[in-house]
Amino acid sequence: MQNESTVTPWEVKGEVDYEALIREFGVEPLNDELLERIKKHAGYLHVLLRRRMFFAHRELGDWISSYENGVNAVLYTGRGPSGQTHLGHLIPWIFTRYLQEAFHADLYFQITDDEKFLVSPKLTQEEIRGYTRDNIIDIIATGFEPGKTKIFVDLAYTRQLYNIAVRVAKHVTFSTAKATFGFTDSSNIGIIFFPAMQAAPCFLPQTLTGKDAHVLIPCAIDQEPYWRISRDVAPKLNYRKPAGVYSKFIPGLGAGGKMSASLPETAIFLSDTPEEAAKKVKNAFTGGQPTVKEQKEKGGKPEECVVYSYLYSLFDEDDSSVLKTYNDCRSGCIMCGTCKNRLAEKVAAFLKEHQKRRAQAREIVDKFILE
Ligand code: TYM
Repeated sequence: MQNESTVTPWEVKGEVDYEALIREFGVEPLNDELLERIKKHAGYLHVLLRRRMFFAHRELGDWISSYENGVNAVLYTGRGPSGQTHLGHLIPWIFTRYLQEAFHADLYFQITDDEKFLVSPKLTQEEIRGYTRDNIIDIIATGFEPGKTKIFVDLAYTRQLYNIAVRVAKHVTFSTAKATFGFTDSSNIGIIFFPAMQAAPCFLPQTLTGKDAHVLIPCAIDQEPYWRISRDVAPKLNYRKPAGVYSKFIPGLGAGGKMSASLPETAIFLSDTPEEAAKKVKNAFTGGQPTVKEQKEKGGKPEECVVYSYLYSLFDEDDSSVLKTYNDCRSGCIMCGTCKNRLAEKVAAFLKEHQKRRAQAREIVDKFILE
């Protein structure tokens, strides 16, 4: 059977088959044993784990063992500042914050302003600088620990990163880069080098401290190709291979596809007013029947419903409540409007809280930036 979907760091298209991706990318599914090990340290299981929004990993167990054996176990994640932050970006960040608390870990947070300039035909450096400032406020507002969180912007922190990136780049052939990222003769030469810049922070903690460290990268599965080359190169530079833990994509509010800033009417931006977000939710694609009568007779399809998927993956942590929504929908006891209202309320409350924290975050940016 042909799989029509595409998942690369720069494009996610079609209906993603996550089971197939596990095989294609050679990663492991998250299992109950690993979840128990995380729970032991965190004290509870995050809803993103319980509901398997985070679904795959590479050597997560080894990373936890490193932590348990006193190795410096650190986290690394990032953001490409090509627009305003939306809810999808927040999925790995919320999870990273949970891991930071559970494992008392330092977090290295890369902002790839170089990448977004190189891949976008239209964005100017000035625009990207604006998004960089704005995205950093969202990152800080997510609640990372000051003092343990180091945010660095590629075009400002170049000296440190470039030093590592050239060492990485020397071990990656053009043929490997083409096979991993799909570069062609018309790719610009900047983006061909860029994977070395995104691999570099895997080795930044060791470079800065002069000591051993074990890096874990939480992100959505689209970023995984970068870690393949990072892991290949690591032993050649005498470092541990970075581990990874990967999430699925939160869908856009329309029919099909991941949430993406290029479809603003189907994305919830963290800068949306609660009213704007509620309006988007009310226009969302659902698994409901065309009429109330049919919905009552046949019931809806929660597994195809975007509104249900948001409740399930993030916004309704109560297992019995989410199961009731599922059953009520299937049996036609509940109409789409009710679910939309419930989600709109939850999203509005979430945005209000985030926007309050954004105002506080502005005052403490300096505490987070690596110069
Ligand atoms: P970027 O800015 O495209 O995305 C930031 C993070 O959000 C994840 N993501 C999503 N997760 C769930 N649902 C979605 N709809 C969704 N859309 C995006 C991405 O996987 C990513 O984790 N090149 C990177 C920046 C980067 C980075 C890193 C990311 C540099 N170093 C290390 C992760 C880890 C980028 O442009 O991400």
